Amino acid sequence: MASGKGVVIVNDAEEAVEKAEEMLNGKFGQASKRILFEEYLKGEELSAICLYDGNTLLPLEFARDHKKLLEGEKGPNTGGMGAYSPVKMDGDMENSVFNLLKNIENALKRENIRYHGVLYVGMILTKDGAKVLEYNVRFGDPEAQALMVRLQNDLQELLTDVFNERLEKVELRWGDPSNVLTIASEGYPFSPKKDVEIGNFHELAKELGVNVFGGAIKKKNGKYFSDGGRVLSVAAVGEDAHERTLAFAKRLDFPSKVYRKDVF
Ligand code: GLY
Repeated sequence: MASGKGVVIVNDAEEAVEKAEEMLNGKFGQASKRILFEEYLKGEELSAICLYDGNTLLPLEFARDHKKLLEGEKGPNTGGMGAYSPVKMDGDMENSVFNLLKNIENALKRENIRYHGVLYVGMILTKDGAKVLEYNVRFGDPEAQALMVRLQNDLQELLTDVFNERLEKVELRWGDPSNVLTIASEGYPFSPKKDVEIGNFHELAKELGVNVFGGAIKKKNGKYFSDGGRVLSVAAVGEDAHERTLAFAKRLDFPSKVYRKDVF
């Protein structure tokens, strides 16, 4: 509805009024006719993507997204500029995250919410513990890439277990740490450059042993071009995952590329 850009974090009341007016005046059409103010949560993000089969809420490994466009968590919010998994936390914080997930599982049952599928719990790890920022009933992007390249179980079997309400018995197996970088096109998130040719990614992916996931990309006469903001993402697994995704981003032949170097 707002292409992942419907959230703004404001620094004072004046800016809040300005942004609210823009939205209520139709910045995102019908999608911004109503707006919601939420408490500002300070801390690092955590994406807890879970499977739910009506009884068992099974968290996948945790991942961390980087939603700001620029390094050092600056610039506008985006749909996600990169992610990594797993996420290191101290024991107290980890307990707080698992308690929160347990409360969510209990609430789903208590309120008799009949749901089978993916529950994405977006959290902020505040000084008072983990707090929920948002829920989605889908996988997250780019966190899903960070998880899927690590997952050793068969995804189809897992999803069948969701359907057949067998998550209680599932044991998840995970490979080495992963790192994912989003390659966006200049101007993203407001007016990304389209129709810019993207060269060499097949060759680079092979050489660096990384996975490339297409996003806003199109193919014309056997060549690839940008077709929107987040053009592709690159995922690698292993202790040097970040070095390899970064090498891919640096060497990619795509003149309007924009990416962050501090996603790790
Ligand atoms: N990475 C954030 C989301 O998918 O909502």
